[in-house]
Amino acid sequence: MHLEGNKVIDEDRQGEAVMAEVPVISNGKKMYLESYGCAMNFSDSEIVASIMVGMGYETTKVIEEASVIFLNTCSIRDNAELRIWARLREIKKNKKRNDEFIVGVLGCMAERLKDQLMEKEKLVDIVVGPDSYRDLPNLLATAESGQKAVNVLLSREDTYAEISPVRLGSNGINGFISITRGCDNMCSFCVVPFTRGRERSRDPESIVNEARQMFEAGYREVTLLGQNVDSYLFWGGGQKKDLDPEVVKLAMDHKLPEAEQKGFTTFADLMERVAQVNKDLRIRFSTSNPRDMTDAVLYVIAKYDNICKYVHLPVQSGNSRVLDKMNRGYTREQYMDRIEAIRRILPGAGLSTDIITGFCSETEEEHQETLSLMEWSQFDYAYMFKYSERPGTLASRKYPDDIDEAVKSRRLSEIIELQSRLSHESNKKDIGKKSIVLVENFSKRSKDHMSGRNSENKVVIIPRNNHQPGDYVEVTIVDCTPATLIGE
Ligand code: SAH
Ligand code: F3S
Repeated sequence: MHLEGNKVIDEDRQGEAVMAEVPVISNGKKMYLESYGCAMNFSDSEIVASIMVGMGYETTKVIEEASVIFLNTCSIRDNAELRIWARLREIKKNKKRNDEFIVGVLGCMAERLKDQLMEKEKLVDIVVGPDSYRDLPNLLATAESGQKAVNVLLSREDTYAEISPVRLGSNGINGFISITRGCDNMCSFCVVPFTRGRERSRDPESIVNEARQMFEAGYREVTLLGQNVDSYLFWGGGQKKDLDPEVVKLAMDHKLPEAEQKGFTTFADLMERVAQVNKDLRIRFSTSNPRDMTDAVLYVIAKYDNICKYVHLPVQSGNSRVLDKMNRGYTREQYMDRIEAIRRILPGAGLSTDIITGFCSETEEEHQETLSLMEWSQFDYAYMFKYSERPGTLASRKYPDDIDEAVKSRRLSEIIELQSRLSHESNKKDIGKKSIVLVENFSKRSKDHMSGRNSENKVVIIPRNNHQPGDYVEVTIVDCTPATLIGE
């Protein structure tokens, strides 16, 4: 697995459980699971593992041993899906096997491509959408009897709140906690609202309990996950859309009178409660949304030392016309206002973003505005993508994907080049500064060094000495590369 920031970058993780919570009777069978795409998928895989372990399955890293093989899939861009089709063919053709095994597709592709998955090339026996994991016992029973099994119903309520995730392939230090599911934003390029359904916020009680259990099990950092964490709102159930929008706005801005505020838990409130679990438990969160990120949230981040001073705030484009066409709900100036708020309330905070280049009808001047906004914002890191049209989205229905592939590639390389310079400059500015690093792993390059991250989410390499994963170490930054800081 390759985690950058809070995102898992297009690499798979083969899961083996490291922490089974409830002793169960084994059914003698093994499950193998690969996760693709975003952190939310990795978090979901841990729910799947929990359900499977509850059914008596053991997890394995050896695909040939498994009687059930799951791929938890991603649909965000076309190349993510192509990769999974190739992997499915490879699994089916595994020459080392001549026994029976079940292949299941979970996650976003299940939702989007159920029919093709079942019919095309007979690669898949079971298709399970992101809200149907509770149905796995039935679906597996059906598949074992030789029939195809599908459940891609999306839920309006389920948040898997009470399912205790089985941590997969974890270092036991950093873990994810999902706080919302789905997304209501309907950005015109994005398939997520279609594959993951309506937004739901999970009961804060279950989130705080999960954080506490993780701390007690040795975890030192939790990342609160949602497609848009800032729109988290819990008031004891029901649909957010049924609430008076004025009341929602007041609650989010912490402006409701005491009595009315009661019963509402906003993202700011939630972070505060998770931060109070233990001062040695670091809190991260992803993804913040420029449309919804309030100053109240930033003040809570400022108030607690253990809430990391790092915001991932996807901008997508630096031009207001393109942003409007993307249905992002903010202009260039409104985005800049949010960056100024971060700089004012959280001076020195780490900042990263997502950028899509070559969106429908994007002109050369509009592309230049993305570059100038990057320069102005001084991002420490960016995830940069070429626009990939997704069937069913508003953009695919209304706007032609009319930017030449060669132009998209050229614009993307200009963006990448600028960001490499910005990242390197940002790292150089850290030389001489002191930082608290949470040690996570051995360094990939040398056994004499450890690797960890500082509060601002930069990777710091330090001499091994006697440090163990999970230790907090105060270091001085003495050198850097474009991608990492070197500490002593
Ligand atoms: N909820 C998050 C991001 C979800 S997807 C947010 O608020 O932005 C992660 C990133 O993938 C997005 O931020 C966007 O930059 C990129 N992305 C989404 N759909 C895309 C598409 N059709 N083509 C290219 N990139 C896309
Ligand atoms: Fe996608 Fe926009 Fe939601 S990028 S996940 S629709 S915030």
